[in-house]
Amino acid sequence: MNIKRGRSLLSFSEVPVRSSSGGYVVRVGSGVREMLGPAVEVAAPSGRCGLIADETVASLWYEEVAASLRGRGIDVVPAFFPAGETSKTRANWSALTDVLMDARLGRDSCVVSVGGGVTGDLAGFVAATFLRGVPLVQLPTTTLAMIDASVGGKTGVDHPAGKNLVGAFHAPAMVLADPDFLSTLDRGVRAAGYAEAVKHGVTLDAAYAGWLASHAAPLLDGSPGEVTRAVVRSVELKAEVVSGDEFETGSRKILNFGHTVAHALEAASRYALPHGHAVAVGMVAEARIGEELGLTAPGTAEEIRTLVTAFGLPHSHPAFARALQLVDLMIRDKKTRSGVVHIVRLVEFGRTGAADETTVPVPEADLVGVIRGLVLQDP
Ligand SMILES: NC(=O)c1ccc[n+]([C@@H]2O[C@H](COP(=O)([O-])OP(=O)(O)OC[C@H]3O[C@@H](n4cnc5c(N)ncnc54)[C@H](O)[C@@H]3O)[C@@H](O)[C@H]2O)c1
Ligand SMILES: [Zn+2]
Repeated sequence: MNIKRGRSLLSFSEVPVRSSSGGYVVRVGSGVREMLGPAVEVAAPSGRCGLIADETVASLWYEEVAASLRGRGIDVVPAFFPAGETSKTRANWSALTDVLMDARLGRDSCVVSVGGGVTGDLAGFVAATFLRGVPLVQLPTTTLAMIDASVGGKTGVDHPAGKNLVGAFHAPAMVLADPDFLSTLDRGVRAAGYAEAVKHGVTLDAAYAGWLASHAAPLLDGSPGEVTRAVVRSVELKAEVVSGDEFETGSRKILNFGHTVAHALEAASRYALPHGHAVAVGMVAEARIGEELGLTAPGTAEEIRTLVTAFGLPHSHPAFARALQLVDLMIRDKKTRSGVVHIVRLVEFGRTGAADETTVPVPEADLVGVIRGLVLQDP
């Protein structure tokens, strides 16, 4: 799709997502951030917007993003918080809500999230709850947020008992994913986001996983052409899943592959371990668990390990030596049912179990045993 941008054309792709609130589009392409003002006019008509960003992203991008809104006569209320996962808290949800409340934003306002997955989840939860819900527009600025977190409507904060334990489903009104944002992103953070792309390939599309493996270098460099292609394919795959199961009663659980172990590792590290790293390790570990239980084709974990390594991501973690603590954390995860841990059933590279057997219960003793074995296999 093309539209006029001064004398040149701005070209972008659009991926539609169905949701109970009417659906939305994810617009992907270099320069689409410039369309924020017009996009808000159409998708979330508002005279005023709360613009939520972490302090790092605000220092780099706030002025430009706010100017796009002001250019359309939209009043901008800035609401910033300190960067990092440890900010994804009820306290910051409360503080950001207070900023919007003090500015007397009404039900005819919207929230614009500019940032990575932490900002999207936090700002999304503010939007979901402020005056019982106002429209949310997502401007993801990390690979992880473009590829995954800004799409699907999951919002929320962490709780001392575990990751993402307080939140709400609140679909965005629009997502503008602009690879140009990645120009200011640290290479390591850029790499971490590809863990979610690997997850999409490993669970849903082996050919995409193969493409990722052979394009790791330009993707890590942030080359706009390759990044756009990865974001579009990942969003297409995620959109298909969440459009069919918005509230995760069945097939959407596929997208939790690697996350049972990942969330436990994040909590065990007190959120020092980046989410993307935890997912990379978690996918290898859950595939090994599947292999040990005879659910997953032998060699699958090794294939995933090769793929995450191509992106410079870790495949193991010292916390595996504390198997009991990790399993205890997994039991507290919200994917647990009746006290029994469930993992996504990966049948083989690129294929998960059918709809009625997307996840499988794993007895506690088996989990502890396999995790202890991971330490032996990954010195
Ligand atoms: N809601 C969902 O469906 C979903 C899906 C996947 C992950 N998540 C969540 O996403 C979070 C992780 O997201 P993340 O990895 O993007 O972390 P993040 O939001 O903390 O961003 C990582 C770091 O990059 C900085 N940053 C962001 N954009 C930048 C830019 N353009 N230039 C320079 N610096 C920039 C941030 O300030 C931060 O320090 C986790 O909390 C995870 O649970 C949510
Ligand atoms: Zn994730």
